[in-house]
Amino acid sequence: MPKLLFAPMATLSHEAMRRIIEHYSPCACDEYYTEMIQATTFIGGGKFEQFYVRPGPCPERVVWQLTCGKAEPMAQAAKIIAGLGGIGIDINMGCCAPEIVRQGAGIAWMLKDRAETEELLRLVRKAVPENMRLSVKMRLGDEDYKLDELLSFADMLAAQGVSQIVLHPRTRKAKFKRPPHWNDAQKLFEHLEKHYGSSICRCINGNIVDFQSLCSVQKLVPLAEGFMIGRAAVQKPWLFGDLARQLAQDSVGQSAVEQLEAAGLAGSACLAAAQDGANAGAEECADGGASGGAQSKIDSLEIVSMFIDNLVECQPEEFWLSRAQRFFSYFCKNYSFANYLFTQVNNAKNLPGMKQAFEAYFEKMPNERFLSRSL
Ligand SMILES: Cc1cc2nc3c(=O)[nH]c(=O)nc-3n(C[C@H](O)[C@H](O)[C@H](O)COP(=O)(O)O)c2cc1C
Repeated sequence: MPKLLFAPMATLSHEAMRRIIEHYSPCACDEYYTEMIQATTFIGGGKFEQFYVRPGPCPERVVWQLTCGKAEPMAQAAKIIAGLGGIGIDINMGCCAPEIVRQGAGIAWMLKDRAETEELLRLVRKAVPENMRLSVKMRLGDEDYKLDELLSFADMLAAQGVSQIVLHPRTRKAKFKRPPHWNDAQKLFEHLEKHYGSSICRCINGNIVDFQSLCSVQKLVPLAEGFMIGRAAVQKPWLFGDLARQLAQDSVGQSAVEQLEAAGLAGSACLAAAQDGANAGAEECADGGASGGAQSKIDSLEIVSMFIDNLVECQPEEFWLSRAQRFFSYFCKNYSFANYLFTQVNNAKNLPGMKQAFEAYFEKMPNERFLSRSL
């Protein structure tokens, strides 16, 4: 079964958000990437840095994403943060925000002199214990990127000990509305598979919002071994649980069908039996998953209260409002009058005021309070 990863997202991929996802999708997300941690600020002991390195609720599944335009601070920060445990250190080579690129960070690492990027990776790899993974999240490159250059960039990553690549197959300037270049993603993954086999894990990211879109991406990029999801998992914190169940169901069904085909028995009765097997697999999976498991309805007000409580516990007071506004800007998309609701929430002066805005909305729209999971 492919693995599922939560995307690094500044102001969103923090512990308060991860707790919500883990609550509604227990054990379904294989890797939780953190929001990017600015290496220089981190080693300088910035006031808020302790909040960026909170590892909960699943420290063993955290991937720490670092950003910086210079190699030495990145290596220094990587060394300290690797000491906190988790799966490994990820270098942000995809962020295109102008202030990040100006610092020489994010996608600038794909565009600058190759020797500089090589040196960054060499230093970070050396700073991080061997049993911790070094990964890179990247885009395709600039608007005029060439596939050959992308492949040789990937060769350089491999030579420097990178063992997982997450590709968001858009160019530097491409916004989220333009479709990703899935073809080139598949070409890159063919290259990685051919030359590095299982020593580099190939993960894909972009526009996955449900099982159907995941299957479409899987068809276009069949060599992807992992699927990273960002915005949709914020809007629907139960999404990973739903996807994991559907993937498990699919793989039980697939392997049963494959076995039947191998035995030359793939008639319709046998296929129906295989399908039953798939359903049984799905039930087992649902039974295994604590509170998020077999439910088909989710109480919106429970999510709102839980998120607010988590924020108070996991974030400094200075961040409460802005982080809540950012989360609710995605979460409100679940409702018919999303813009109206978000405006009410956004105008609230404090966290209790935000909760009241939701309560007032559900008084007017009681049928919308309970959200369905796509089971
Ligand atoms: C609000 C926001 C913040 C983001 N911050 C980061 C970041 O810190 N590091 C990073 O590598 N990508 C960042 N991204 C990009 C996402 O990780 C991901 O590549 C992008 O959202 C596409 O995936 P999606 O379609 O599943 O959302 C951010 C995206 C959003 C929407």
